[in-house]
Amino acid sequence: MEDNIGRIDMPENLSIGLMVAKQRKKCRSLDCRCNYYGFAFGQSPFPAPPSLVNELKLAAGKTGYVDAQGIYELRSAVSGFNARHFGLKPDPEKIVIGPGTKGLLFLLFSIIKGGIIIPTPSWIGYSPQASFLNKQYFPLATFPENNYKLTAKQLEDFLSSRKGRQHMLVLNNPNNPTGQIYTKDELTSIAGVCRKYNTLVLADEIYALTSFDITDFTSMGKVFPEGTFVLNGLSKDRSAGGYRLGVCHLPDTDCKTIAESLQKLAATIYTNITTPVQLAAVSAYRENEEVERYFATTRQIHRIMGATISEKFSSIEGLKVTMPSGGFYFYVDFNNLKTSLKECGINNSNQLGKALLSHPRHIATVTGDSLLLDPDNFGVRIAYVDYDGKKAYDAYLNNRPLGRQDEIRYVKKHAPMMIEGAEAVSDFVNSIKSGSLIINQEDL
Ligand SMILES: Cc1ncc(COP(=O)(O)O)c(C=O)c1O
Repeated sequence: MEDNIGRIDMPENLSIGLMVAKQRKKCRSLDCRCNYYGFAFGQSPFPAPPSLVNELKLAAGKTGYVDAQGIYELRSAVSGFNARHFGLKPDPEKIVIGPGTKGLLFLLFSIIKGGIIIPTPSWIGYSPQASFLNKQYFPLATFPENNYKLTAKQLEDFLSSRKGRQHMLVLNNPNNPTGQIYTKDELTSIAGVCRKYNTLVLADEIYALTSFDITDFTSMGKVFPEGTFVLNGLSKDRSAGGYRLGVCHLPDTDCKTIAESLQKLAATIYTNITTPVQLAAVSAYRENEEVERYFATTRQIHRIMGATISEKFSSIEGLKVTMPSGGFYFYVDFNNLKTSLKECGINNSNQLGKALLSHPRHIATVTGDSLLLDPDNFGVRIAYVDYDGKKAYDAYLNNRPLGRQDEIRYVKKHAPMMIEGAEAVSDFVNSIKSGSLIINQEDL
């Protein structure tokens, strides 16, 4: 095997199923119901918009190869969509269709020179790609007092210490794992630093249209058009992660050269993104009332679920919890319990994840290295999408919850496992505080 494959592990959110199965086999607890609370996997729970699925059926017979950059009809629809929703300049030549945001990031990391700056806690996908490609990356820790957002000052301090070297900044907004959204002013300040140090931005905006209040969201591509790659796709806001279709809006500068390089690499590796999926996606990017209604409904359900489950976690003494404004995650800081955790034999954030899973109530989360945290930083990502999205969607349309109490009742009814899961975390925390948690070191 080549060395680079040894530098990466199976991503924790995807391997969690294996870990749970292993845990079940060896769980010795008498009251174990062999179930687990699924806060690890961040997939939209809703069915995709019906028009998208129908268009795919209709396109199934289109079996020919197409342009590596993406079919023109789709690129044109995407550029119109980006202009309507994000105020980006409409130009189909600036759009590249790729194998999901993840695949596009891999292509971009492969062709752009320089080290990768990754604010942390971070999405689990960036650093393994950098490691695989043998590219240098620099985690920059963010802090609760800044709502876990990278500040322009932090970026400037970092870049000024590395003058003359080329970097790119990965900026995920709305953020996975914190659920926070950068304001336009914050983005403008960061853009100012990027201009000064000639730093490109890979703006991972895959959760943009899940922003609960869409007026909170500004695309980095609007603020810093000359230096931003805006990445988005069908996976999150249109619940079609398995279609593997992502889009990239290229920066104004060197757009033609970059497009040609991406095309060359795409053609070398996979030729083109599945033709019927591209044809189907046209309907999801053209002006389309059904899709707009779908965005409006799903973002309200995400808001209700996020607020309710985050409040449940916040009520657990000792935890500091973010209140999400978009996406489907929040971040839980266990650092106030560090002494008690260590007394129970949990010495780092990775072990915290394993202890949550091996606890008799089996709570699956993402922690530690996967979030690019320092080992001594006890942080946990909670994904709040473990419910039947179709039922919750239909119920929301038939009987929209009005007011906060009604919303809480809606979550209790449609996402009971997440409510129970938050209670399981409370049990876990109580057993840590009282020192009654017995940890088998083999489980860690
Ligand atoms: C922040 C972030 N970026 C990218 C992705 C991957 O998106 P795609 O399905 O378009 O590859 C995810 C998926 O979990 C994500 O959370």
